[in-house]
Amino acid sequence: MTLLCNMATANLNSLSRRETWSLLILAGACFGVLANTFEGEGAPVVASLAFSGVAFSVAYSMIRWLGPVFIRAGLSGKDMAKPNRPVIPETMGAVCAVVYLLVLIFFIPFAFYKDIVAATSGGGNRDVVIEVHHVETGRTLHRFPHERLASYLSGLLSLQCIVILGIGDDLLDIRWRHKVLIPAFGAIPMLMVYFVDFGVTHVVVPMPLKPYLGAFIDLGFLYYAYMAAVAIFCPNSINMLAGINGVEVAQSLVISVLLMVNDALYLVTPFRHPATDSHLFSLYFLLPFVGVSSALLLHNWYPSKVFVGDTYCYFAGMVFVVVGILGHFSKTLLLLFIPQIFNFVYSTPQLFKLIPCPRHRFPRFSAETGLLDASMTEWVTPPAPLVATALDLLHRLRLARVRKNGQGEIIESSNLTILNLWLIWMGPMREDRLALSMVAVQTACGLFGLFVRHCLALLVFPSDNRALGIIL
Ligand code: UD1
Ligand code: MG
Repeated sequence: MTLLCNMATANLNSLSRRETWSLLILAGACFGVLANTFEGEGAPVVASLAFSGVAFSVAYSMIRWLGPVFIRAGLSGKDMAKPNRPVIPETMGAVCAVVYLLVLIFFIPFAFYKDIVAATSGGGNRDVVIEVHHVETGRTLHRFPHERLASYLSGLLSLQCIVILGIGDDLLDIRWRHKVLIPAFGAIPMLMVYFVDFGVTHVVVPMPLKPYLGAFIDLGFLYYAYMAAVAIFCPNSINMLAGINGVEVAQSLVISVLLMVNDALYLVTPFRHPATDSHLFSLYFLLPFVGVSSALLLHNWYPSKVFVGDTYCYFAGMVFVVVGILGHFSKTLLLLFIPQIFNFVYSTPQLFKLIPCPRHRFPRFSAETGLLDASMTEWVTPPAPLVATALDLLHRLRLARVRKNGQGEIIESSNLTILNLWLIWMGPMREDRLALSMVAVQTACGLFGLFVRHCLALLVFPSDNRALGIIL
């Protein structure tokens, strides 16, 4: 065990000369760009881009340096899909999350530079004379968008809550039913701000239903329940689509890039779109996320040198919840979660214990072939007739795999995850090919989701809220 740890830590704790120089040059260039954004009206998007470069460099170095420290603290896991099951650092998502949170905090003056200048009469130059009636009526106060700062800070607070939960889970291995609701508590600050600041709980009614329901329907408090459900779903669903090298981070990167494409559709318009601020807000949260996640993926891709931990899965899911809720596009967000929704629905028989659910459902590694195949769960007593019939049907439709004994009773059935299903369809494959397949599925489903949102939706809704008309 100690030997394995030593082997795992030997090449983990230092950066090569080439890496050091590349990261230093990247960080230096980004700081140079940042120094130039405090001019004129400021350049928050450019600053955010530069911050994501800094976040990448810092996260990349810290992951490398802190690996052995994490192993010594007991935060390590066995890579189950390798012949000798090496022990590598776990919970590296916590490093990313902390770097990310600090970057978001440092970014505040850059995001609000223009407003700070306006509210303080010229970049903090308080010699500028303010007319008495303005002071008396408090008009200067209104020059600063406190509501946007409140949104930003509530997003930060929600992310901090989820990071604490994630680290707690990685340390203590909290049981599924105890931790599943916690993201909803983390979302309370955001929902508060949504209520006070935006408060829209109406949804547009599809055209065929308009004669019966009217143009809009007010969901009232149900809309808040729905947003809390989104907050529970996104972090947990990323944690469920996990278990092979690189898949947690890669799916999150695909979702974030597609969300940025969606933002760009509203930002690159000939005139200022009413949703510009919401989508800028989304970019400010996503750009540094892409920075820290790319640094993590380089260490977590096959063959992994670190594991991301539940902290990363919860943190990534919550970043999407924050941009979806505070950017007012939580329904579009769900269209980018099609594989996760499928994986969750497909998993429900195991989650609700209709089918035995082992602690781990990741694919089974064969040391002889070096390939992954669908993992199976054992039936100690044969399933009830109804469950057996359902499993037989799934087996015939190639939606699951079952094994029977001589008497025709089911003794094993495949674990119901999208990873195992893919292996049933495509046959055994290497771990990195399976991860790449998931990246392809996520990208294809996400692009389809955006197509549905901006093109197909026009068949049932009167208009798209985007200014450009049709995407393609
Ligand atoms: C969730 C899944 C579980 C899956 C696990 C994989 C549900 C309800 N739970 O549990 O089925 O097995 O994620 O992360 O769907 N590991 C590898 N290779 C990897 C990543 C992880 O071998 O590329 C192993 C390591 O031993 C690591 C462990 O998985 O220590 C992490 O599992 P953990 O994140 O604690 O599992 P859960 O999130 O509870
Ligand atoms: Mg996990």
